[in-house]
Amino acid sequence: MKERLQKLIAAAGLASRREAEEWIRAGEVTVDGVVAGLGDKADPLDQKILVRGNPLEPGRKNRYVLVNKPAGVMCTRSDPQDRRLIFDLVRDIPGRLFTIGRLDMTTEGAILLTDDGALAHRLAHPRFKVEKTYLVRARGQIRRENIRLLEQGVTLEDGLTAPARIGNVRFSGGHTWLEITLREGRNRQVRRMLESVGHPVSRLKRIRYAFLEIGDLPSGHYRFLTAEEIGRLKNLANG
Ligand code: URA
Repeated sequence: MKERLQKLIAAAGLASRREAEEWIRAGEVTVDGVVAGLGDKADPLDQKILVRGNPLEPGRKNRYVLVNKPAGVMCTRSDPQDRRLIFDLVRDIPGRLFTIGRLDMTTEGAILLTDDGALAHRLAHPRFKVEKTYLVRARGQIRRENIRLLEQGVTLEDGLTAPARIGNVRFSGGHTWLEITLREGRNRQVRRMLESVGHPVSRLKRIRYAFLEIGDLPSGHYRFLTAEEIGRLKNLANG
């Protein structure tokens, strides 16, 4: 069946409709070797559609990617200061990926990228309360009563934090190391929680997102999720 090109391109997850229209206007889309114009329709099963040189693959599967983000990389689509973007690390994966939630520029570790916009949107929603575990290095020695406070809830500008789990607390070289598991995802939450008890964070790494551990995935690298992991993620998003 013939459909408008911008609709086909958006449905394949390559771009938004608006971006697709711009590409068509710029002459970057061809159908059977002929440059397409805005408003043209095509049948992806019957015709060869090239979008900026890449073939449009109708009915292809979504992609789900776990990235170990290095510190200094931004989770935004673009940066006026031209800093490195998370999307630069997955440049060899065709299509338009979205991050599921975000990490601060100076935070390292596990972040999921996908072209499944609906799943990304659902999992990032606070209603789903996805568990995330962070390895924290904070300045000074945190007293036991402050660890208990962080677990029970501390009051930040945007209200009381929900209960958290803290484990593996150790003190070394003037810093406290600990692992904290949250089910919320407020902006800069871990940093603000630790600051509120007087111990600024000097290093932050997300080591687990839901059931996905960063493990020994090297910094700056990614891996595709397995079919089983994708199924579990979808179950989470439908819960
Ligand atoms: N908490 C933070 O403070 N920063 C992050 O990037 C993630 C959680």
